[in-house]
Formats: sequence, structure tokens, C-alpha cells
Amino acid sequence: MSYGLYVHIPFCKHICSYCDFCKMVPSNKELVSKYIDRMINEFDLYEKYYKDVETIYIGGGTPNSLDDETLERVLQKISSLNINPKEYSIEINPELLTLSQVNLFKKYGINRVSMGAESMDDNILKLLGRHHTSEDVINAYNLLKNNGIENINIDIIYAHPWDNFDLLNDTIDKVLSLNPPHLSFYTLILEDKTIFKYKKVKMLDEDTVSNLMDLVNDRLKDYHHYEISNYSRNGFESLHNMIYWKSMEYIGIGMGASGYLDSIRYDNNRLLKDYMNSYRGEENTLDISDKKSEYMILGLRLLDGVSRSKYKKLFASNIEDDFSLYKLLKYNLIEINGDIIKMTYKGYKLGNYVFEEFI
Ligand SMILES: C[S@@+](CC[C@H](N)C(=O)[O-])C[C@H]1O[C@@H](n2cnc3c(N)ncnc32)[C@H](O)[C@@H]1O
Ligand code: SF4
Repeated sequence: MSYGLYVHIPFCKHICSYCDFCKMVPSNKELVSKYIDRMINEFDLYEKYYKDVETIYIGGGTPNSLDDETLERVLQKISSLNINPKEYSIEINPELLTLSQVNLFKKYGINRVSMGAESMDDNILKLLGRHHTSEDVINAYNLLKNNGIENINIDIIYAHPWDNFDLLNDTIDKVLSLNPPHLSFYTLILEDKTIFKYKKVKMLDEDTVSNLMDLVNDRLKDYHHYEISNYSRNGFESLHNMIYWKSMEYIGIGMGASGYLDSIRYDNNRLLKDYMNSYRGEENTLDISDKKSEYMILGLRLLDGVSRSKYKKLFASNIEDDFSLYKLLKYNLIEINGDIIKMTYKGYKLGNYVFEEFI
């Protein structure tokens, strides 16, 4: 058995208009420090698992909004667990990245950085509620690369209300000119309790979104499109995220973090005052039918699809007997090639319709 380790830093300097992640702008330094104290103690709950942890991911929020001293406290704690990870990632916001942060990443063995660029158009960045420019993205990318961090992911959000073919094409041009080994291109989701939802922004129609998806796929042809929103150069697929998509188990630490251990899915409390009293909120033990559904829904996100024989080995039953595939095949949303069931290109664009059949 191997595990992933996710560590959540919920602090941000500003709140972006689309974001429903567990995040907050801290009112003072003491609050951050108290949170970190509390979070550092949470690591003790999972001692027996650390010897089998293969990937670490520090996400947020904005982990690099911490000052160097506080960030180093977190990294030191993780280092004391004596994990020797295959991949160790941290999420960053470009405008906050400094050389001393990059030096800390290297000192503690972080070997992958995921940067929220979101767009390479300064006007769009403002409309998304971001507080950086495209130049900040280029500078941060170069700072990482020139200081020995090669494995860099860039996140882009597209199909937002102002998007169109030329704008997106231009963002893709600028991102590709950096030649990152990994790209995540997300279509905007209008989440509840976000500024966009409150402002009732008008989302693009399905056909326009579909055309923009075609553009992304066409322009990223030189990358391996391995998950609905993820593209990599060979060998740079995200090992940590692969743990989620393959329904493997992981430890989640920090406010609002989720974990999956010993068949229990848990969500830590999302409010600071609750997390300060008790780490975990909801816990659900997955029964066999939950596990089968999750295996299919997560597994089909991977464009290589799901192996029928592996499913049978895991669950002692056939995918075709557990789920009705008739409609999905009829409408050409999935295809079966020998042992493999995978989404067609049409299915991948209509992912939610496909996943509904497995709930
Ligand atoms: C934890 S978030 C961001 C990490 C970092 N704080 C930042 O802003 O760059 C990870 C990524 O999810 C994507 N994302 C967040 N909210 C989204 C939404 N409503 N729709 C689509 N993508 C979203 C963004 O691309 C974002 O970079
Ligand atoms: S997108 Fe990132 S920086 Fe913006 S509010 Fe969400 S977590 Fe914070």
C-alpha cells in the first residue's frame, strides 16, 4: 500500500472572484501562527502511514503567502517525517514568489511547483480578481527554472464570460512559449458562494465552450492529454493527482483538507474556529458500491480509461454487470476496446453526463 500526503495552507492575500476553495485572508500574523501550530500537531495522527507515503502536495489557498519563517516551520515538520517522496509539490501564486522561497523549496526537496497563472491577458486577470500580471507569471517561471526547478505546472482558467477564440489563442501562445512540462487547462465552473455567483456573471453557452475546448486540444497536441484538464510532456504527469484518479488512499492535513484512509473518506473542518477545536468534520466509510462508483468516475477522467480485468480483480464483478453502459455507448460517449473502457472525445467534452451514469 502506498499513500499520498496533502497539506492545506488556507491563507491568501486576496480572494479571486471564481474561487470556492477553503481559503481566507488572515487578519493578523498571530492567527496564521496559531493555525500552523494546530496543523503541525495534526501530523502526529498519521504516524503509521508516513513510511509508505510516495507523494507530497502542499496546496491552498496560497502556500507561498506564508512568510519564510512560517513556511520553513511547515517544511521542517514534513522533513521530520522522514518521507522520501517520488514527487513533492507546492502550489504558488506568481506575484508572491521570491528567490528565498525557491531556495527553501530546494533545501527541503520540493521538486515540483504548480503555479496559478489563470490567463496571460492582464485585463482578464483583473476581471478574474487576480492581483498579478502576465509578466509576473513569466518572471516567476524563469525564477524557478533558473534556480533548478524544472517540473513546473501552469494552471489556466478558460471559457470564462469574456473568453473568445483570439483571447484564448493568445494566452496559449504565451504559455507555450514558456514550454512548461505540465499544463492544467480548466473551464470555469461557476461555484456557489463565489463573487462571480453573487454578481450573477453570465456564463458562455455550451457550443462556445465546446469550441474553446477544441482550440485547447488542438493547440496542445504536442502534449500528452492524460486527464480531462491535464496535459504533460512524457514523464511529467502529476503522480500525486494520479493517486486521486486511481482511487488510491491519501492523508489530508489542514483546514478543509480531504483524506481517504482505510476506506474512510474524511473532510476536515472548513472553518478556522471549528478546525481549531476538532480536525475532522464529516467521515464516510465507503461500501463496495461507493467504491465501484468512485473507481469509475475518477478512473474515466484519465483518458487511458479503465481496465475491465483490473476492475474484476478488485471488485470480483464486471463493469458491464454493475453499471448500464448502453446509453453511453449508444450516444458515443464511451468506447470499449478489448480490456479498456474509455471516454470518447465527445464523452470527454460532456464529462458530467458520463459520470452521472456511474452514481
Ligand atoms: C487551489 S487553486 C489555486 C492555487 C493558488 N492559490 C492560485 O490561485 O494560483 C488551484 C486551481 O484551481 C483552478 N480553479 C479554482 N477555482 C476554479 C473554478 N471555479 N473553475 C475552474 N477552475 C478553478 C485554478 O486554475 C487554480 O489555479
Ligand atoms: S484562486 Fe488561489 S489565490 Fe485565489 S482565492 Fe483561490 S486559493 Fe486564493
